[in-house]
Amino acid sequence: MTRKSVLVARAVFPDIVARLREHFDVDDNPADVIYTKAQLIERLRGKQGAFTTGSERIDAEVLDANPQLEAVCNMAVGYNNLDIEACSARGVLATNTPEVLTETTADFSFALMMAAARRIAESEHFLRRGEWTRWSYDMFTGSDVHGATLGILGMGRIGQAIARRGALGFGMKVIYHNRSRLAPEQEAPLGARWVDKPTLLREADHLVLVLPYSAESHHAIGAAELALMKSSATLTNIARGGIVDDAALAAALAEHRIAAAGLDVFEGEPSVHPALLALSNVVLTPHIASATVATRHAMASLAADNLIAALTGGVAPTPINAARLRPR
Ligand code: DGY
Repeated sequence: MTRKSVLVARAVFPDIVARLREHFDVDDNPADVIYTKAQLIERLRGKQGAFTTGSERIDAEVLDANPQLEAVCNMAVGYNNLDIEACSARGVLATNTPEVLTETTADFSFALMMAAARRIAESEHFLRRGEWTRWSYDMFTGSDVHGATLGILGMGRIGQAIARRGALGFGMKVIYHNRSRLAPEQEAPLGARWVDKPTLLREADHLVLVLPYSAESHHAIGAAELALMKSSATLTNIARGGIVDDAALAAALAEHRIAAAGLDVFEGEPSVHPALLALSNVVLTPHIASATVATRHAMASLAADNLIAALTGGVAPTPINAARLRPR
């Protein structure tokens, strides 16, 4: 049987590439070039599998140019870079990397929320600028996290991991909004209460966004939603750029209509709205919520497991569209 070929579209752990080479001819990208769509189409020629990250958009045009493609395995839990309908219609299996990053991203949401609430980045910059000359009673006073109301928009695995930290670690009151409610036995240990979206926005002291990006969730937080929030509230986004209207958020922060924000994701990233860059009451990080060595390795390993299974007659551990796949 001829060996199948795969593209590893971005630089990734060498041991993962080596494992893929045991099974396939591998075209990898140690220089970590971000391929244009035309380059991606060219690179995929003759390949049955693709190991992708959020930076590769796999759509109908890419798939039609490469009808030999059998599997696209994304090293991310989010998969808004993959056109799942187009994959399914062409019999291309798409996979993602759920579970392995849940706790790490939940940790990070707390890091960002606390940095925003306790003004950590802002005060650190002040100190580095040499402006700290004396103590004063109101210097960088922020808001408490313990005992506050934690609002979670999107209550999947990561949302629930955040709720656990809030309820059990920080004694927070947890409210959430999600299309589907948790079962009572999941809500009870967290004291979590489902509320409608306006109530979530009005009552949260610290609002965290963890919903997937889609046409439906585009600008789920815009000017109208920000207007409902408390002026003392913080907003943390570890989900995806585009869920927040960044221009509207920058205006709300500039006018202190909300207190602070922590953002790991941005509309049009890696570009960041210049109005956000100019503000001191927002903590900005470059999409690193899942970035621990162990978790990134686990994500890469799971993406490789999926690719190997998909192309060698096995069962991919974390498929997205297995049930919807048109036979090839
Ligand atoms: C994910 O897994 O979706 C994270 O955003 C990392 O890209």
